[in-house]
Amino acid sequence: MPDNLSHDPIEQGRPVFHFTAPSNWLNDPNGLVYVDGAYHMFYQHHPHDNTFGPQHWGHASSPDLVSWRHHEIALAPDDLGMIFSGSAVIDSGNTAGFGAGAIVAVFTHHLADGVERQSLAFSTDSGTTFHKYVGNPVLESPDGVPDFRDPKVFRWTGDDGDETWVMVLAVGVEVWIYISDDLIEWELASQFSTDGHSGRVWECPDLFELRVANGDTKKWVLAIGVDSADLPHLYGTRYFVGEFDGKTFTHSHTDVHWADHGADFYAAQSWSSAPDDRKVWIGWMNNWGYARETPTEGWRGAMSVPRELGLLDTGDGIRLTQAPVRELERKRRAIVRRDNVTLEVGDDLGEGVRGVALDIDATVNLDRSTASELRISVRIGEDESTDIVLDLAESTLSVDRFRSGRHLIHRSYAGSRLVSVGEKQGMLDIRVLVDATSLEVFAGHGLVAITEQIFPSASSDGVAIEAVDGVVVLTSLEISGL
Ligand code: FRU
Repeated sequence: MPDNLSHDPIEQGRPVFHFTAPSNWLNDPNGLVYVDGAYHMFYQHHPHDNTFGPQHWGHASSPDLVSWRHHEIALAPDDLGMIFSGSAVIDSGNTAGFGAGAIVAVFTHHLADGVERQSLAFSTDSGTTFHKYVGNPVLESPDGVPDFRDPKVFRWTGDDGDETWVMVLAVGVEVWIYISDDLIEWELASQFSTDGHSGRVWECPDLFELRVANGDTKKWVLAIGVDSADLPHLYGTRYFVGEFDGKTFTHSHTDVHWADHGADFYAAQSWSSAPDDRKVWIGWMNNWGYARETPTEGWRGAMSVPRELGLLDTGDGIRLTQAPVRELERKRRAIVRRDNVTLEVGDDLGEGVRGVALDIDATVNLDRSTASELRISVRIGEDESTDIVLDLAESTLSVDRFRSGRHLIHRSYAGSRLVSVGEKQGMLDIRVLVDATSLEVFAGHGLVAITEQIFPSASSDGVAIEAVDGVVVLTSLEISGL
């Protein structure tokens, strides 16, 4: 390991195109809801310190998921405790009695002794102000079960047209599913657990239906944050593909996957009532293993890019796909644009390119490439470089952060990620989003995602794109500044 261990804070390290709080600590995305032309995002926030503390809901909104406007803090702690994670829905039918079209936030109240209860708050002015419901809490943990939190609520419509509210809640290493007519009275409908994939605790569940892109079916996806000692990086986002009948989620036991193979994609949540039937989610780009120690000053914690979700039948089963929302492409300023280029040993398509906020988009013709590796290196500087390596023989993608700058002295920070990209023939797309303190890699129609925080010096801004031991044929390559 290089001798550059240091805790010097990164002062200029604010992400360029990733969301951060105006100042201080941020964790999970909360209350994601689209209303009146705006995507609202609330988030776990400690406004007075750069570490986890009395949790509030910060608030921002965006017309396009790319440029964000900060708003007043929406929810602050009270006698029932801190404001932990939760979701928001539009109550068009005024089922709760707060007004037709009210935004209703459903969140966890967390007391210092660990007791967790679900509560409501509502807004009748498109999210400008929130009022806590006087009857809070609306759902208490039976027998004081600990780890009873993070309600995600959505509207379910059955085949007969009947509608109900559904809440998925993380309870220990299970997801409990509740139903309600009015968001106030909740009835337990089912309990979901799995064998062998549980870890220590589950957090922030989400449940949504998606169409299979290359089929004529729809499937349900249950996603959870898993705190697991088995994971090299301790925290990750898992998903199950299955069926949901309004009360119970079922899946085949082989349908258990990681949504992201990096260390820094957690507590992901999808937007309620997004337009055009799109499903977009966003995750906290961090890991509880070291979240409180990342070397930043004045701010700590960023969101991932918002990602459009889909499902693809891979032949080996139905899998989740993720792609940065298309709105991000409008921010691109082209630096390099090449078609049908043959990269020989010694060539470097990144030569002369510099940047800390970049979008690299390449399509590799696997049939015509003979190299053992394609190496995309970013944030190159003196003794620093973060390499994304496509091993063409093994069909794997890897990223490590051994030379990615300031190393955090934590066992779950070091290490490399290696993921199979499946394809050995045809075309393989690779997209790399680089920002001041992060890297997101998407490949193979979005079936692979790897998200990692990195902490190189601001001056490490070089790029290299090289072939090892043979040629790599790129049908297209675009490098853009963001
Ligand atoms: C997940 C989580 C949630 C909790 C929140 C507290 O990152 O631990 O389970 O509600 O963060 O900030």
